[in-house]
Amino acid sequence: MEKKIFIKTFGCQMNEYDSNRIIDSVKKIGFKKTDDQENADCYILNTCHIRDKAKEKVYHEIGRIKKIYKKKTKPIMVVAGCVAQAENQEMLKREPFIDIVVGPQSYHKINELLSSYDFKKKNEETEFDTITKFEYFDQIENKNTKISAFLTIQEGCDKFCNFCVVPYTRGPESSRSFHKILTEAELLIKNGAKEIVLLGQNVNAYSYIENLKEYRLSNLINQLESYSEIKRIRYTTSHPTDMTQDLIDCYKNNKKLMPLIHLPIQSGSNKILRLMNRKHTVEEYLQVYEKLKKINPNIEFSSDFIVSYPGETDQDFIETLNLVKKIKFINSYSFIFSPRPGTKASNQKLIDNNISKKRLIKLQECLFNHQIKKNKFYENKSLDVLVENKIKGKNQLFGRNEYMNSVIFEGEMDDIGKVLKVKILKSNQNSLFGKKDISSNMRAA
Ligand code: SAM
Ligand code: SF4
Ligand code: F3S
Repeated sequence: MEKKIFIKTFGCQMNEYDSNRIIDSVKKIGFKKTDDQENADCYILNTCHIRDKAKEKVYHEIGRIKKIYKKKTKPIMVVAGCVAQAENQEMLKREPFIDIVVGPQSYHKINELLSSYDFKKKNEETEFDTITKFEYFDQIENKNTKISAFLTIQEGCDKFCNFCVVPYTRGPESSRSFHKILTEAELLIKNGAKEIVLLGQNVNAYSYIENLKEYRLSNLINQLESYSEIKRIRYTTSHPTDMTQDLIDCYKNNKKLMPLIHLPIQSGSNKILRLMNRKHTVEEYLQVYEKLKKINPNIEFSSDFIVSYPGETDQDFIETLNLVKKIKFINSYSFIFSPRPGTKASNQKLIDNNISKKRLIKLQECLFNHQIKKNKFYENKSLDVLVENKIKGKNQLFGRNEYMNSVIFEGEMDDIGKVLKVKILKSNQNSLFGKKDISSNMRAA
């Protein structure tokens, strides 16, 4: 009999991709994905360890799940993802409700773990075995049917920023086979993908050597460009030191590569970047920015920022604000520094919480102001929108413009998967609202 599996995903796009691949894998042993979390035979929490009380949040979640199943048969409880990797055995000792703990580089063992499940025997798998994992998943069809599809090409990180857990939870940098990635891309296209988002913790560090030839992210982008069904290509997340000339040149030649670059800088102060071990200066970041703007002035940047990193003075913070005013980042993320166990910055003196909150508000005000202005600028203009889906329960469609802004408008089901001109009538900080620009769409047809 078919068993039901429910998976709840936290964290980054890579976790989202992993969750889908786990579902693809467990189908082979008779599990089917369910959206009903109250009646599952297996319940997976795919966790994130990047900030705050990540571990406690997982135990809190499990407390909630325990209540749901108090009077029902207990599901096989699996903790996957980055908290699983960081905490491993500890989780099984602390919470008997958990049956299996599996780290991100051991997902190729998930079928075996579930098939051999025995409620008396707990299992933990947190080896770093990325190559075997990639090889395993290369044999399993990616069943994704979304218009915008994620495709992981690289995992792990060798940069060791002093604040970050990723090198510990995802392990060293490892790149997938160039040709296997293309095979997966072809499958995604066959299933209806019109946009491919290449993923990696350091996606632009992608490097795969085969027959003495090195394949880089630029090679992948150029190859994807040649598939006629693909309308858009994106990649995330990049590190400034890996923005090599071949990648920058892609913006000269590729029509499908979207003009939004998510390039986290974290701080506008060289002193803080040094303390963070970011391995680049503000000036080096600006050089990349200027090179790209020269190729195409319409390219926009988005970033991640950490405020109140230990040692950040008012002056350092002002330098971050100045950088934000200069670059006018859009669609950015900002966080207060959160000490992560095991990282170099974890024992440093924290900045007063009230000061940190004030800095975050100030930075976000500045970021959101640019965002609101940019969105206002789109009003009364016709934008290219890739239509992704229908909004549940409404007669409206959801799509994205080139810069990843959500666009909501009225349309028909067969608009899904097309790039349409949408005239923007209204905007707020996060979304644009419009209507199909019939005359432009007719001209384009
Ligand atoms: N590899 C990417 C890079 O080099 O920027 C980022 C990966 S990380 C998953 C995403 C973002 O989380 C980082 O850019 C950083 O801003 C934030 N982050 C990571 N560790 C953090 C911490 N300890 N406290 C606050 N924010 C953190
Ligand atoms: Fe974390 Fe730094 Fe690696 Fe990005 S580059 S994943 S922030 S250690
Ligand atoms: Fe979180 Fe792991 Fe992604 S810590 S951000 S799920 S790589």
